[in-house]
Amino acid sequence: MELSEGTLKIINTASIEDALMALTKEAPGQVVFSTSFSWEDQLISHFIFSNNIPINVFTLDTGRMFPETYSTWSSTLERYKKPITAYYPDALALQEYIVEKGPNGFYESVENRKQCCHIRKVEPLKRALAGKKIWVTGIRAEHSANRDHMPQVEWDEVNQVIKFHPLLHWTTEQVKDYIRKENIPYNPLHDKGFVSIGCAPCTRAVRPGEDFRAGRWWWEDSTKKECGLHIHAPETNNS
Ligand code: ADX
Ligand code: SF4
Repeated sequence: MELSEGTLKIINTASIEDALMALTKEAPGQVVFSTSFSWEDQLISHFIFSNNIPINVFTLDTGRMFPETYSTWSSTLERYKKPITAYYPDALALQEYIVEKGPNGFYESVENRKQCCHIRKVEPLKRALAGKKIWVTGIRAEHSANRDHMPQVEWDEVNQVIKFHPLLHWTTEQVKDYIRKENIPYNPLHDKGFVSIGCAPCTRAVRPGEDFRAGRWWWEDSTKKECGLHIHAPETNNS
């Protein structure tokens, strides 16, 4: 699927609300947004919910998220009174993995860690994207050097969907200002040095000046740090 010239023009020139609305016109009922309840994701949920944009918002509940993340999820439901779909790992696959590797087996090898990410995130994501055409994410270029040259609209060969990253070029300060201005509920861990927030056992705070991704899977070699949700074409080298 390709976006029409008209929609691409709106994406490049209009507000985020208008861009999201244009996507829903292009693929009615087939646009979804994935939230991890990070502050960039909260901002996009805010755009969707407060403008009644018909985009299904979903989260991949890994079962290992921070208590603060679950609280942010609850606050979001209270604030907007809109549904958020939750996807869960396949119970049997998870059970077999835990019995074999133990509950914290992901610290023992990159292979174990990727297997855990696959069961808890990648496979549920496949189900969330099945039959959909457009996947909206909260990815920002500042998140990592690899995301610096990413296009705002890209084709995801693995999941066979178009991805749209509306906040790709927003800075952290812009995100924070908007969150404050609109009084949007956000994860309190962001005020404690957590920039990129994933599962609790695999995320730590970073020091000022440290790379944003340094707090994710911090015990691993930096070239292996991806969970498989966002795989990019080799020629763009944006993994
Ligand atoms: S990851 O690849 O390292 O896990 P990251 O935390 O940077 O991803 O988040 C980038 C985007 O991926 C988020 O803005 C969100 O759209 C999506 N995402 C990440 N984790 C989840 C999750 N658990 N549930 C739903 N979406 C997620
Ligand atoms: Fe498992 Fe850690 Fe990946 Fe979460 S981030 S799915 S706990 S390995």
